[in-house]
Amino acid sequence: MPVDHRLSHRNQPLPHWLGCKIVIALLAFYALTQFLTSDGLYDYIESTKKDTNRLGALAATKSLIDSAARPNTRSLQSSIETGASDNGSKQIQLSHWTKMNRYPDEYAAVKQYVEDNLSDKPNKRILSFGAATGLEAISLATLSFTGAKHSNTIIYGVDLDQRSLDKGVQNVASHVPHIQDNKIVFFNGKDTHIEKYGKYDAIFANSVFCLHGSDTFGPQEVTNAFSFEDFENSLRYLDASLNEGGLLAIVNMSYEFSESTLAKQYRPVAKCAGNFVTRYNKEADEWVSFNKRRSRLDCVWVKESV
Ligand SMILES: C[S@@+](CC[C@H](N)C(=O)[O-])C[C@H]1O[C@@H](n2cnc3c(N)ncnc32)[C@H](O)[C@@H]1O
Repeated sequence: MPVDHRLSHRNQPLPHWLGCKIVIALLAFYALTQFLTSDGLYDYIESTKKDTNRLGALAATKSLIDSAARPNTRSLQSSIETGASDNGSKQIQLSHWTKMNRYPDEYAAVKQYVEDNLSDKPNKRILSFGAATGLEAISLATLSFTGAKHSNTIIYGVDLDQRSLDKGVQNVASHVPHIQDNKIVFFNGKDTHIEKYGKYDAIFANSVFCLHGSDTFGPQEVTNAFSFEDFENSLRYLDASLNEGGLLAIVNMSYEFSESTLAKQYRPVAKCAGNFVTRYNKEADEWVSFNKRRSRLDCVWVKESV
């Protein structure tokens, strides 16, 4: 009987070497997509893009660090009256990179805690400190604090970068579905103290208390531009505008919240993933790095009464 060679060729199994190549190609593709979607890479691209446009990456970075390190001596009271924001007006993190639903388990933990413990409280206020282009505020308004239960909950977003805030306003306006008017309010911390809209029931300060973005920021540069004392002052600035029983939520910071003076008034209530910024541990006197997906660290603290 005549054999159809085209048919028998089609039925042959893949050669072993070709199978291996396909597997290697798939693994390489997976690794590449993981790398391209990492926050560190985006932060790096965003910060260097901005710097390169100006003076060249290094020179610009240095000048930003210098300006970030300038002390601010205005008193809290006078800053509220004049609108300027004292410790809050010190530019810490330089990158404005953000994305929708960036810290899902942190948002879920805060929402759960608020619904379990603060449900009777009317007109809740939530602050996204370091709001950048508003995607965190939009995530909170559309994914977490949404629906009839939260119709009176307002999300505030503060940043020092006006261009980012303007983009935030555009992002809200173009969001589909439509976001209820005045559900999100942005303001610039350079001229407005956060107290103006407080006190808040929850404050998110994600990826702000750090200086991350490229390998040019070694431990020394981080501590020069944003010292442990600056970290403590920044925490005090937030604490002054947070209600007792309210929540502080932080992912990614250069220091341990548990080592701050304020920590004794706060109780951790949730752990989450998403931390990739190297932290200085004072007690051990060492910098500790974390795996963004595998490390689950304290990220939400409730402010207890004194
Ligand atoms: C990397 S973005 C984080 C955005 C968002 N919170 C998130 O986690 O996706 C950091 C933002 O913090 C802002 N920032 C830095 N220092 C600040 C300060 N003292 N007050 C308010 N915003 C600040 C920066 O301008 C930048 O837009």
